[in-house]
Amino acid sequence: MTEQIKKASKLLKAGNVVAIPTETVYGLAANVFDEKAVKKIFEIKGRPLFNPLIVHIKSIEDLQNVATNIPPKAWILANYFWPGALTLVLPKKKTIPYVVTAGKETVGVRIPSHPVALALLEEVDFPLAAPSANPFGYISPTNAAHVQKQLGTKIPFILDGGNCEKGIESTIIGFENDEPVLYRVGAISKEAIEKCVGRIGSKTKAATTPEAPGMLSKHYSPKTPFMVSESILSDIEKYKNQAVGFVIFSNGIDETSEKFIHLTKTESLDEAAQNLYAAMHQLDAQGFDFIIAEKFPETGIGISLNDRLSRAQEAEFDIEIQKELKNPNNS
Ligand code: TXA
Ligand code: MG
Repeated sequence: MTEQIKKASKLLKAGNVVAIPTETVYGLAANVFDEKAVKKIFEIKGRPLFNPLIVHIKSIEDLQNVATNIPPKAWILANYFWPGALTLVLPKKKTIPYVVTAGKETVGVRIPSHPVALALLEEVDFPLAAPSANPFGYISPTNAAHVQKQLGTKIPFILDGGNCEKGIESTIIGFENDEPVLYRVGAISKEAIEKCVGRIGSKTKAATTPEAPGMLSKHYSPKTPFMVSESILSDIEKYKNQAVGFVIFSNGIDETSEKFIHLTKTESLDEAAQNLYAAMHQLDAQGFDFIIAEKFPETGIGISLNDRLSRAQEAEFDIEIQKELKNPNNS
């Protein structure tokens, strides 16, 4: 592994983009201070330039090299949840290039807990700007093979750190008048955050110019049409003889053909989160007419998982954005 980390480090220092493991999902990383390298991330992902990147740092001490005017509750959250799946949106330090923050005065930052990511951050000694390592709008990768399949030909190296332990993106918190506001639900539940800092506001609704475009309506989606089911048993009866793939959470559904992926044997939301994106990737590769996913219980990170399912389901891909991508001069 040390050799692999050294290789990734060398490439990053030379201005390349490298895919890296984190505990949430794989990231597409570049030196945060190297504008040219950061621009490559946007090109490789096909990501619109108005969508800012998350900056990954190795220690709390490094936070002050990235952000400034840090509210007291941000310190509390950082101390409690880092290293971990919480991204804080804070006023940016001047030294952070605008290409990273998409022109914003704020920067999203977190310390990942994946040991390989931390070792790499030690080795390179600069923060890494990294969005999820998927083409824009597609399902995030939770293992190296997912990255290889989606972006393998576009990047020089994938640092393989195995399967992601969390399997769903970080929770994003911003601050308004120094008070925490939830921008994106994710691997850490809102309850867990509220246990730490008391009640917080939410701004997680989809919008065209969202605070965190991770909330763009169509995101996290497979190419196969995707449906969320609130009555999985009757949908199985209805569709099981057709070319339909199923993502199952509940116990007691005995179907075992390759059409059915059971996310967990014990109805564990953590385990389901670990396996959800891999299940979506796998079913998407099988050429089904559509995929049906069972809705999760609306509790804890079940809320985050349901958020991702409903975004995968949205019928209207942000058509305006696609047009803009094809015709950058139009806007
Ligand atoms: O778990 C994660 O967060 C993964 C791993 C690689 O760290 N990263 C990830 O990045 O999910 P990405 O780019 O797919 O999603 C990052 C989200 C975007 O929705 C972006 O808009 C939001 O973070 N974001 C970043 N900086 C922001 C800022 N200054 N203000 C508002 N939102 C911001
Ligand atoms: Mg993403």
